[in-house]
Amino acid sequence: MEDLIFEKAEIALLTINRPKALNALNPPLLNNLAGLLLSIRHDHAVRVLIVTGAGDRAFVAGADIAAMSEMTSVEGLEFSNLCHRVMAAFEDLPIPVIAAVNGFALGGGLELAMACDLVIASDKARFGQPEINLALIPGAGGTQRLPHRIGQVRARELIMTGDMIDAKTALEWGLINKLVGAEQLLPEARNLAAKLAAKSGVALRQAKAALRASFTMEEDAGLRFEQSAFGLAFASADRIEGTKAFVEKRDPKWQHR
Ligand code: CAA
Repeated sequence: MEDLIFEKAEIALLTINRPKALNALNPPLLNNLAGLLLSIRHDHAVRVLIVTGAGDRAFVAGADIAAMSEMTSVEGLEFSNLCHRVMAAFEDLPIPVIAAVNGFALGGGLELAMACDLVIASDKARFGQPEINLALIPGAGGTQRLPHRIGQVRARELIMTGDMIDAKTALEWGLINKLVGAEQLLPEARNLAAKLAAKSGVALRQAKAALRASFTMEEDAGLRFEQSAFGLAFASADRIEGTKAFVEKRDPKWQHR
């Protein structure tokens, strides 16, 4: 899997590694990602995942356009389906996922960042959905996730014009959580990951599931989902420890169960 570098640890680092093609996503890479995400999903040793792009130019410059230029219509549909499965696999990971955006996050690259829980970007980052310039539209969730994140007005502007925005604008628009200098990107991502790794894994998992419900469910069902998720967190050993530690004025010791 040369196109992916996975450094397994409690705070794991996944690097999309096709720097010569600005880390564009082609079918073999996406299939490798799907397999890797499945193994991370069942690996309790990994508590937080950071995703970044190889080199200093791109996070991911989108789906691989050269590969798409060779596809039939049916293959194009299957390709979008594969992209969607991978983005859903990121979203469905029970652990927090941080995108560390080190350069271009375009098309499928922005869609990948939006499938992550938190996004930190360097001042070199550029964001956009330029598919319209290929007579295409976003095919990895962008038409749905982008308006959800930044509102219809701005999402329509990005998807219909294909324009790019810089990291400062992305911060103002609420597309990213934090903007840092290029040198600080991975250290800051690791700081944030360490903060999350110090929380109860059970509570994080339930918080993530309930937040996802705000995207996938009608409000009424989502509010009921939250009650169930709260109940599951409440049933954990960590909840007993967390509330007890507060009352006893001491730091909690999580078991992540
Ligand atoms: N797919 C395949 N190859 C890509 C690529 C992509 N998405 N983006 C860049 N590359 C390749 C270039 O072809 C080039 O390769 P060669 O050196 O072999 O010619 C190399 O990466 C460097 O790129 P440029 O020479 O173009 O670099 P630049 O600095 O002049 O421009 C850029 C950078 C503005 C990001 C430009 O590369 C670009 O516009 N890339 C395409 C971005 C795009 O349209 N993304 C959306 C793809 S469609 C999609 O993602 C659909 C979906 O939702 C699933």
